[in-house]
Amino acid sequence: MAHSNIAPTLTRAELLAMLRWQADAGVDEAVGPAPWNRFAEAPATAATPAADANAEASAARTARRPAPAAAAPALSVGALDDCADLGSLRARLDAFDGGQLQRFATNTVFGDGAAGARVMLVGEAPGAEEDRQGVPFVGPSGKLLDRMLASIGLVRSDVYIANTLYWRPPGNRTPTPEERNATLPFLMRQIELVGPKVVVALGGPAAQTLLNETQGITRLRGRWFDFRTRAGAAGGLACPALPTFHPAFLLRQPAQKRQVWQDLRAIRAKLDALGGA
Ligand code: URA
Repeated sequence: MAHSNIAPTLTRAELLAMLRWQADAGVDEAVGPAPWNRFAEAPATAATPAADANAEASAARTARRPAPAAAAPALSVGALDDCADLGSLRARLDAFDGGQLQRFATNTVFGDGAAGARVMLVGEAPGAEEDRQGVPFVGPSGKLLDRMLASIGLVRSDVYIANTLYWRPPGNRTPTPEERNATLPFLMRQIELVGPKVVVALGGPAAQTLLNETQGITRLRGRWFDFRTRAGAAGGLACPALPTFHPAFLLRQPAQKRQVWQDLRAIRAKLDALGGA
């Protein structure tokens, strides 16, 4: 059957049945890097003059498809220095083109907490609940994180929480290095504006991104690193940083909580040694 656009020939019930079939097969969200109109595709048919015409039409449509928006080029060091507080940094992020990640997300998940927090925790990326609420670590991992903080006498209002990414990757896919790098300058400026005494990287992606490391979290965790927001450049903020396991990993591997307990005690000891409230 030759059809170049099947949507108008299907009834609402048929379209719903197709959707239901996909849902039953486990397709519950779009995971491609860009929206795609499958109805605009012509089916491959036998080589006949009509098929050749179809192929040409299909090629023309392919050429018209918008290319997935590439992540914006990384901002240069200092490009966000005129953002003097978290509010103006947030406004700048809202005006920034975050590419497909941003377009797929329900909300921007900027951060939670106040400037001046002594501890800044950085996770990987917003999950489904965070995407819905626009607040980091409010889902199951967040509940465990709250308990972890409580175990060393901290509550959420004592800390500032952010992620290496401001938008949930569709289907929780791994973001590309370009997507990570595009907004890293925002995260670094955010850390400078919060001004923590200690940074805690939750999980491998956060540790690798912040510390520019390639080792896995099992090797990185439990060691203090000299963190700088502007490695190799003057200025910025420097403070100790400790990578530890991500709460989501602990939910899957509760036996690893013992190691995280050591990390939490190390954070408590560091804060006590640094003094202040
Ligand atoms: N996992 C993260 O890394 N960040 C969140 O905000 C939630 C879950």
